[in-house]
Amino acid sequence: MNDGSQPILSLRGIDKRFGAVQALSDVSVDVRPGEVVALVGDNGAGKSTLVKIMSGVYQPDGGEIVFDGRPVTINGPKASQALGIATVFQDLALCDNLDVVANLFLGHERTKAGVLDEVEMERHSWELLQQLSAKIPSVRIPIASLSGGQRQTVAIARSLVGEPKVVMLDEPTAALGVAQTAEVLNLIERLRKRGLGVVLITHNMADVQAVADRIYVLRLGRNSAEFAIGEVTTEQLVAAITGASDNVVAERAARDRSGSPITPDAIDPYAVLPDGAGGPGHVSPDPDQERDA
Ligand SMILES: Nc1ncnc2c1ncn2[C@@H]1O[C@H](COP(=O)(O)OP(=O)(O)OP(=O)(O)O)[C@@H](O)[C@H]1O
Ligand SMILES: [Mg+2]
Repeated sequence: MNDGSQPILSLRGIDKRFGAVQALSDVSVDVRPGEVVALVGDNGAGKSTLVKIMSGVYQPDGGEIVFDGRPVTINGPKASQALGIATVFQDLALCDNLDVVANLFLGHERTKAGVLDEVEMERHSWELLQQLSAKIPSVRIPIASLSGGQRQTVAIARSLVGEPKVVMLDEPTAALGVAQTAEVLNLIERLRKRGLGVVLITHNMADVQAVADRIYVLRLGRNSAEFAIGEVTTEQLVAAITGASDNVVAERAARDRSGSPITPDAIDPYAVLPDGAGGPGHVSPDPDQERDA
């Protein structure tokens, strides 16, 4: 039984290569029930690739995925959904000409005696939107007439139709204004309160500071840092993302090798990984060097 202290989803030492591009090297991420994990990193850091591996779009070349304590293979989006992993992709993939109900149940339509059960789907739509305290004027209006924030809300509500345990959101506030961003952050808060594990990809450090419990920084396809919220400033976070903290990381890695005690706080990415999780070459203080080699 998962009491919330064990990860619901763990990625261990994930590698992914596209031709000559090593998109991910030895990346590890844990998501626990009732926690919001922010995945941050510069363009091309590997965030979307990691999400696509968790959602079954790509297969990893190496590493292990553990869901609810069991090693799993996620060989397609259906397999990911069946496990209980829902993904809200950045483009939302809503059908503009269909109404809210039709979008929520696209591909999961409820039927009764062989015909669409519109009454049940409409009832369940309101239930889902209420759970999220969503402000949608009507579930019978086309998506095209909703605001950006309302669309994002519908996309998040749709991800909940299959009653997932983990929800991944790729840049959910990127196109939103201040008030709509606040609404989506409130939604994320509610997902956490319902005990879901949430993976939030964002370039917005204010979003991270507002809702994340833990932060993974990816840089050049590798784990570059892990922080608990509250022990990191936005400046430190930006430094980890841009690589300005490489010297600190190198310094700490060198200290760790010389046997000094490891403090479990900021920046040292390797302290959070189990022994030997990365195999040879894992403790590399300088990702640039390895990548270029
Ligand atoms: N299908 C693909 N074919 C070839 N290369 C790819 C493919 N998908 C991603 N890559 C490469 O893998 C690396 C990681 O890309 P990814 O999209 O995961 O980055 P990201 O962190 O999501 O960036 P952004 O913040 O710009 O969305 C990049 O170098 C990218 O060019
Ligand atoms: Mg991306």
